[in-house]
Amino acid sequence: MAAAAGDARGCTSDDRGGDDLEAAVRVSLVSAEEAGLEESDGVAFRDLAPADLPALRELQTALFPVRYNDSFYERLFSPGYFTLVGIDAAPPSDGSFEGTAVAGGGALVAVASVRITSDWRVAYIMTLGVDHRYRRRGLGARALRLCLRATCERSRCQLAQLHVKSLNEAAVAFYNSMGFQADEAEGHAGLCRAHYLIEGEPYDAFALKYDLRPLRRDLGEEEGGPYSHYGSSLYSWAQSTCEGGCAIL
Ligand SMILES: CC(C)(COP(=O)(O)OP(=O)(O)OC[C@H]1O[C@@H](n2cnc3c(N)ncnc32)[C@H](O)[C@@H]1OP(=O)(O)O)[C@@H](O)C(=O)NCCC(=O)NCCS
Repeated sequence: MAAAAGDARGCTSDDRGGDDLEAAVRVSLVSAEEAGLEESDGVAFRDLAPADLPALRELQTALFPVRYNDSFYERLFSPGYFTLVGIDAAPPSDGSFEGTAVAGGGALVAVASVRITSDWRVAYIMTLGVDHRYRRRGLGARALRLCLRATCERSRCQLAQLHVKSLNEAAVAFYNSMGFQADEAEGHAGLCRAHYLIEGEPYDAFALKYDLRPLRRDLGEEEGGPYSHYGSSLYSWAQSTCEGGCAIL
């Protein structure tokens, strides 16, 4: 466990400041079907809703060594942030599944949360995880692909970044398989010494990055970004109009 929520950084949390939130852009989302990421295994992804918070806390407590404080969860609904959650509409009813029920039914079994940096260019993946009973079924890959796609649709970011504990071999293998690369700008082979402080112990992390420009081109976006021809007024409009919206992915 972390000594304090504010001590942990990177993929399990992000300490680069939470006030530069004016980058929020929430625009209409395509459906999961249109995205080619249709529901499978009974798990569907959508934006986090306030009523999901107890289930999200429970899942993140099981997933990460970091204990996130209230301000972390409050920030998830701030401009510049978004969180996708995977909901299993019909979790096992044989008693083997113990928790994380959400309002309206179902269980919260996966999460991916993103913060857009103030220069609107980088999407920082704060958390990504899948309930241990649902792993190795492609859910993590779906969550990551959806959040990269949503980043392209909601912002003009050209790069996704994250930190992952160097000892977390599963996650390192996962991100490698998803095309993430070491971010040499943060250290040789992306290695950041003592990036995390967990229960008073320092842990190294790898800084990883993912170039979003090919994905933007795959999505049919013209060179220069989806909103380049609108100028910043669209950002203000989108922020005031769609902020806090809840979309099904
Ligand atoms: C990392 C994590 C999100 C992967 O989720 P998942 O749903 O099991 O991943 P997927 O099934 O989509 O796996 C996609 C690919 O990633 C790689 N991968 C995933 N888990 C792996 C593991 N334990 N060992 C080796 N490779 C792994 C594989 O290449 C896999 O493809 P394959 O199953 O066809 O071999 C999950 O293990 C997890 O939640 N871990 C705890 C939280 C965490 O550490 N998050 C990352 C840091 S924020």
